[in-house]
Amino acid sequence: MSILFEMKYNEILKIKPEIMKQQKLFTDKIELIYLDSVIGSGYEEEVAKLALIDKIAYRAARKNMQIHSAIILIINDEFSGFFTFQINHDAKEYCLLQSAMYPEKKDKEIYADMVNKIIEGNTYKYPMIMTVSTKHDLETPKLFSSLGFEAYLIKNDFHYMVYGKMSDIRLKLLSHITMTNLWKSTAGTWLKIKREWNDKIEAAGEKYNISNPKFASREGCWQGSSGFSNVVTGKSLNGNASVLDPTACEIILRMFMPKNGCRVYNPFGGGVQMGFVTGESGFEYMATEIRQNQCDVNNDLCQDFYNVKWIKADSSTYEPKQNYDLIFSCPPYYRVEKYLDYDGLPPNGEINHLSSYEEFRDTLFDGYKCAINAMNDNCFFIVMTGDSRDKNGAYYGCEAEHELFFKEQGLTIYNKVVYLESEFTRFAQAKKTLHHRKIPKAEQKILIFYKGDMSKIKELYPTIGRL
Ligand SMILES: C[S@@+](CC[C@H](N)C(=O)[O-])C[C@H]1O[C@@H](n2cnc3c(N)ncnc32)[C@H](O)[C@@H]1O
Repeated sequence: MSILFEMKYNEILKIKPEIMKQQKLFTDKIELIYLDSVIGSGYEEEVAKLALIDKIAYRAARKNMQIHSAIILIINDEFSGFFTFQINHDAKEYCLLQSAMYPEKKDKEIYADMVNKIIEGNTYKYPMIMTVSTKHDLETPKLFSSLGFEAYLIKNDFHYMVYGKMSDIRLKLLSHITMTNLWKSTAGTWLKIKREWNDKIEAAGEKYNISNPKFASREGCWQGSSGFSNVVTGKSLNGNASVLDPTACEIILRMFMPKNGCRVYNPFGGGVQMGFVTGESGFEYMATEIRQNQCDVNNDLCQDFYNVKWIKADSSTYEPKQNYDLIFSCPPYYRVEKYLDYDGLPPNGEINHLSSYEEFRDTLFDGYKCAINAMNDNCFFIVMTGDSRDKNGAYYGCEAEHELFFKEQGLTIYNKVVYLESEFTRFAQAKKTLHHRKIPKAEQKILIFYKGDMSKIKELYPTIGRL
């Protein structure tokens, strides 16, 4: 088409050049009708009919879905499509639900107009969420990205997207990666979050001149000689020290801190991870830790946070001065690690060098008792623990004893989570141990106890919204 002809053609049709891309001589008459609820609007049957024809959007035919809001698309006075959505004031979010257009009416620009109409109607400025698929023809990641949505989670073909701030859907993201009690610490999203936290801890180390901040003060702590990394790589990695996984810390913190809570107590403080994640998430943290070297390094790393501190104390006798909204601890696992102070010795009161497992267990549980006394009602007490074996190879039974102990103290055993570690290193271990019929342990437990009235949990804890 010559430029002159194109100009005349446009003039005749009095339309903008971009509309010409559609190669339509006449523009369609498009109306978008906003419904507070499909039920009662008069569009119930048309929405249901199209939902069933579309198949993917079939749920929009159900009465329990038609209670939600919708945009109805009318093209040239004919019902042509819909987009249903739910405004959830509890979770403070907009959930975009099902959408469909009659096949002969399908047009990405018109579809985008429906989405934009929903965005415009969001006067509350809630985050808007939508699950889309690379396999769908309209509900695609590409289309929603072009309208300002961002993917917060990608699972196979599905992209979980949000229009709004990523921080608003953090609990939802963490919930997605912990949908069952098997927490796979080697999964992609889990590791991504872990790397982000570790980068922040490294940055704090650099800022305050603390080398290897994730493992600081734990040199030479591991008691064995055939640790997993020794077996696989021939050398020990960071002295085989077990430090907490910051992704697990964040999940525990966001899921199990009540809406009106802000204070965490950790009776067996250990490394910096839980305190760092707590401070960075805007909560307060107090840990008792028997080693001065660990307290000093952690306090240096967390000096930018408000009210995050480790104090040197024996938690089996220490009585916290205030009450806490969440208790978390990852205590010693009997005789797995040595906890040494500046002088290279375990301090008095350090429970892992007590001479019998029974003494260790009783002192550990004394520490828990003091912590339980400092717990507010309707709060969680979470312990990350693992069993270890005696010199003959028998497990002590520490995990099971935890459950019985907390039950005796009047708490409820509320969740038993299996924290799954890398299996790869265990395969190497198995080549030695299976001859003795010892199966390498590739998990730890996260035992979640609750003190109070369980029927209040839904009301008192942050709303996750639609998953
Ligand atoms: C297993 S570590 C914590 C491990 C954890 N995974 C971490 O990130 O460091 C437990 C901590 O309890 C401390 N501990 C031992 N006996 C204690 C006691 N009686 N009072 C307070 N802390 C104690 C040890 O020094 C050690 O740092």
